[in-house]
Amino acid sequence: MPSGTAQSADFVVVANRLPVDLEKLPDGSRRWKRSPGGLVTALEPMLRSRDGAWVGWPGLPDADVEPLVEDGLHLHPVRLSAKEVEEYYEGFSNGTLWPLYHDVVAPPVFHRHWWQAYVRVNERFAEVTAQVAAKGATVWVQDYQLQLLPAALRELRPDLRIGFFLHIPFPPTELFMQLPWRKRIVEGLLGADLVGFHTPGGARNFRWLATRLAGASPGHGRTEVIVGDRPVKLGPFPISIDSGELDRMSRSPEVQERAKQIRADLGDPKRVVLGVDRLDYTKGIDVRLQAFEELLAEGRIDAEDTVMIQLATPSRERVEHYQRMRADIEQAVGRINGEYARVGHPAVHYLHQSLPREELVAFFVAADVMLVTPLRDGMNLVAKEYVACRSDNGGVLVLSEFAGAALELKDALLVNPHDTDGVKNALYAALTMDRDEGRRRMRALRRQVLSHDVDRWARSFLDTLGLPPPEESKS
Ligand code: ADP
Ligand code: F6P
Repeated sequence: MPSGTAQSADFVVVANRLPVDLEKLPDGSRRWKRSPGGLVTALEPMLRSRDGAWVGWPGLPDADVEPLVEDGLHLHPVRLSAKEVEEYYEGFSNGTLWPLYHDVVAPPVFHRHWWQAYVRVNERFAEVTAQVAAKGATVWVQDYQLQLLPAALRELRPDLRIGFFLHIPFPPTELFMQLPWRKRIVEGLLGADLVGFHTPGGARNFRWLATRLAGASPGHGRTEVIVGDRPVKLGPFPISIDSGELDRMSRSPEVQERAKQIRADLGDPKRVVLGVDRLDYTKGIDVRLQAFEELLAEGRIDAEDTVMIQLATPSRERVEHYQRMRADIEQAVGRINGEYARVGHPAVHYLHQSLPREELVAFFVAADVMLVTPLRDGMNLVAKEYVACRSDNGGVLVLSEFAGAALELKDALLVNPHDTDGVKNALYAALTMDRDEGRRRMRALRRQVLSHDVDRWARSFLDTLGLPPPEESKS
């Protein structure tokens, strides 16, 4: 069924952002570019295969955009005013919920006017979605920016089948209890038929809160609660990537050639260490820079033959924590280069840029060691992407035990990012790892990542929600 007209889509994804962002160019014209972050990476291929619609914000304040088809995807923009971007997105979503759900690694800020904007915007998303979804359609709501949407949508459209997936960690109950609006959030989520998390721990925490705060009673086993007379399923669904596609891309002669060129541009060092992240304080970019710097200072590695690259996508640049962290990281890069670089040969190459997909894959292929050191991360798709791109079984992954991915990628070198000596030693071990040991680990990691791809994740969630696979739903 076509999904560009009112109440016509049988399958609808709703996320804060559309998969493409409107960008304003200096001459005043506008163009679409790919949105940042793992959510879009994961959901875009799935939506294409199901011919669904996507409801979301186009990424600019006060942008009036009509529904459109962009690169084969049916997009339904939700308008946000500049004030709403400030209070709902930068404020409540990224100044309150983001730090609270990431183990308060930065202090969350609680403002009542931010909360009120969050309520208003969630209601608006519900109204737009209610207009787009066909009778009896399946709606899949994404992430922490839209936790009130399942209940608001059920109120407007009780005929819909509603799923919700949280892309960030669900916090320990004692941290969640700090939230002044905790009951409303839990009730909002319980409007769904299925609430999914990355890990069993997240599902467990939510189940406890649903019974304590929202009067839900225990249902079937540990994967269900009853709200009134309605069952709500709960469970872990660890998200993944389009591993087959990345594997294919990484094997292409163009990417292989580009990877060689990158190493040549770096001066053909013996070892290349890589970090790839949105520039976010949860990602532990400072942790890995410190580990690298200390290894140089101690003379255990030498900037002549070991270089580090940090690729950092600009993110949430108007939020204060992000501004401070960017300044700190750029200062650290400057300090390390001031001390250990020579002309034409930096020790740390830092790009505050989002790279095209093929270029990023070439960096993965070129890197001997991948450093993924978040203080807390729902999953971390970058870790899986690196593995998917190593068809040569080369490269070593150093991975924080506080990333959701650590539950699956057990053959990585797992580190506690709060333990600087531990990170340092793991980085050193990765740089000096015996070739056979490295290959053994990478083979095991690849078995996991290639067999658990994003399609399997989406199928498992949608099967549990009761939606038939795409072939059946189209016939
Ligand atoms: P998050 O969702 O918190 O941003 P993930 O690691 O799960 O974290 O997903 C990040 C996504 O953004 C990945 O698909 C990754 O390849 C992509 N990405 C991160 N940094 C860059 C960059 N500098 N250039 C291009 N893509 C990037
Ligand atoms: O799940 C992580 C997440 O917040 C997604 O919701 C989002 O798409 C991505 O990171 C990027 O963040 P933002 O949309 O705030 O730029």
